[in-house]
Amino acid sequence: MKIMLFGPQGAGKGTIGAMVSEKYNIPLLSAGQMLRDAMKEGTEVGKIAEKYINEGNLVPPEVITDVIKERIQKDDCKKGFILDGFPRNLKQAELFGEKMNEIDHIIELDAPKELLIHRLTGRRTCKNCGAVYNIHPDCDPNPKEENKCDKCGGEIYQREDDTEEAIKKRLGIYDSETKPILEKYQDRVKKVNAGDNPQAIFERVVKVLEE
Ligand code: AP5
Repeated sequence: MKIMLFGPQGAGKGTIGAMVSEKYNIPLLSAGQMLRDAMKEGTEVGKIAEKYINEGNLVPPEVITDVIKERIQKDDCKKGFILDGFPRNLKQAELFGEKMNEIDHIIELDAPKELLIHRLTGRRTCKNCGAVYNIHPDCDPNPKEENKCDKCGGEIYQREDDTEEAIKKRLGIYDSETKPILEKYQDRVKKVNAGDNPQAIFERVVKVLEE
């Protein structure tokens, strides 16, 4: 099963994607996390990505498309995969070419803007494994121990691009650059209300995938 997860920043693509990945035993390929890993490792891609990411801008389309195309060739993607955060504009969809037609499900997670900003300002990410948490009591999941990842014990931190200014910029880019993809593929897009708790959203997504 090949899935593309769309939705503005904070809609929960990473959170719900991880639950779907576990249920169907297919990898979650987060474009953002792959770029952050490249930055951490100091690769050529990481060096290019750094300045774009920290300012809340998209990295050049050729760079990210090559990263994704290479990643989906790996053995663990044979049964399928979940793409989170790719493509983000029409140019990337175009560079992905025929592979766009091989996607079985295009899902759009939808939530109000105030809720997205609230979630993102409380987001914390594990430096070691990339797991995502939230420090706002009304968001999910909260880490069991302050500043510590429940899964690997790694330190959790606030991403540099999770400032209110960078968040607003990214949300603007989503409207102007990513939404046109959803318009282009509107016949295939299934919209899911993502304004609830993760379990409720996950169940909605599973229903759509199994319909
Ligand atoms: P990326 O890593 O994709 O970050 P993002 O744009 O901020 O969006 P996310 O995908 O992280 O948000 P999300 O919907 O997954 O929300 P999450 O589940 O974390 O990209 C980072 C950067 O990389 C980009 O700005 C760009 O520079 C670059 N990049 C990436 N892809 C690119 C591409 N294709 N082309 C070019 N450049 C690219 O949830 C948010 C928070 O809310 C979390 O704290 C979570 O715990 C909490 N939460 C989630 N769901 C719920 C819920 N239902 N109820 C309560 N709390 C919830």
